[in-house]
Amino acid sequence: MKKNTLDKILQSQGFGTRKGCRHLIREGLVAIGGEVVNEFREDIDPEGLVFSVEGEEWTFMEKVYLVLNKPRDYECSRAPSHHPGVLALLPDPFDLRDVQPVGRLDHDTTGLLLMSDDGSFIHAQSSPKRQVPKVYVATTHDPVTPELVGKLISGVKLDDEPAPLSARARMIDDHRMEVVLEQGKYHQVKRMLAAAGNHCTALCRTAIGGLTLEALGLEEGEWCILEPEHLALLVKSPAGITA
Ligand code: URA
Repeated sequence: MKKNTLDKILQSQGFGTRKGCRHLIREGLVAIGGEVVNEFREDIDPEGLVFSVEGEEWTFMEKVYLVLNKPRDYECSRAPSHHPGVLALLPDPFDLRDVQPVGRLDHDTTGLLLMSDDGSFIHAQSSPKRQVPKVYVATTHDPVTPELVGKLISGVKLDDEPAPLSARARMIDDHRMEVVLEQGKYHQVKRMLAAAGNHCTALCRTAIGGLTLEALGLEEGEWCILEPEHLALLVKSPAGITA
C-alpha cells in the first residue's frame, strides 16, 4: 500500500480535515504502538497500522465494510426526518468518511443492515442483477395459514407492479413466517403480506445470502466489521428455506 503522512492517513480514516488531524497530532492525542507521535511529515505504510486517537484504538481500513443489527425507530436515510439515522449508532469517524447503508430497511424493521464507504460494493450489492437472497422473519397480525404461505409462493399482485411478485416462504409458528426475497421493492414484505390478506406487525431481516444474524450474534444496536470470510458469505445462498 502507498505510504502516506500520518495527518493524511488520519484524514482518510474520518478524523476530520487535514488541519484538524495535524492539530490532534500536535496535541499529543495520537499514538502508534503506545508511543505518542508528534511528527506528521514522515511517510508511513498504512497497511495493518494500529493507532490510537484520544486513547481509543483503531486499525487502518482502506474501505469500511460493516454490519449493524438495526433496531426499530432508526432511519436508513442520510437525512432522517422522524427518527435518528442509523449512522448515530456508529463511531463518528465512520460518518465522516461517508459510510452509508447498503439499501434500506424501513424505520420499524430490525435486523441485518450492511454499511460501507465503498461505492462499488454498495452498487454491486444493491444491483437488481445481483439477486442476493435476503431472509426476513415477519410477525403477522392474523394467524399464518398454509393458504397465506401458498399465496406468497405463487405470487401476489401489488398496485404498482406489472406482474405478480412471488417469494420463497414458510411458516415458523402461528404468527411468524420466513420470507426470502431476491428483489428489494419498496415495503415489499409488508405489501406482499397485505396483498395476501394479512398484516405484518414486525419485520426482522435475519440473513443476507449466507450471512446470518444468528452466527454474528449481534444484539440490536450492535455492529461489527465484516471480515473477508463474512464478505464471502454474501454470495452464498441462505440456509433455511429451500427453493
Ligand atoms: N420489506 C419491507 O416491507 N420492509 C423492509 O424494511 C424490508 C423489506
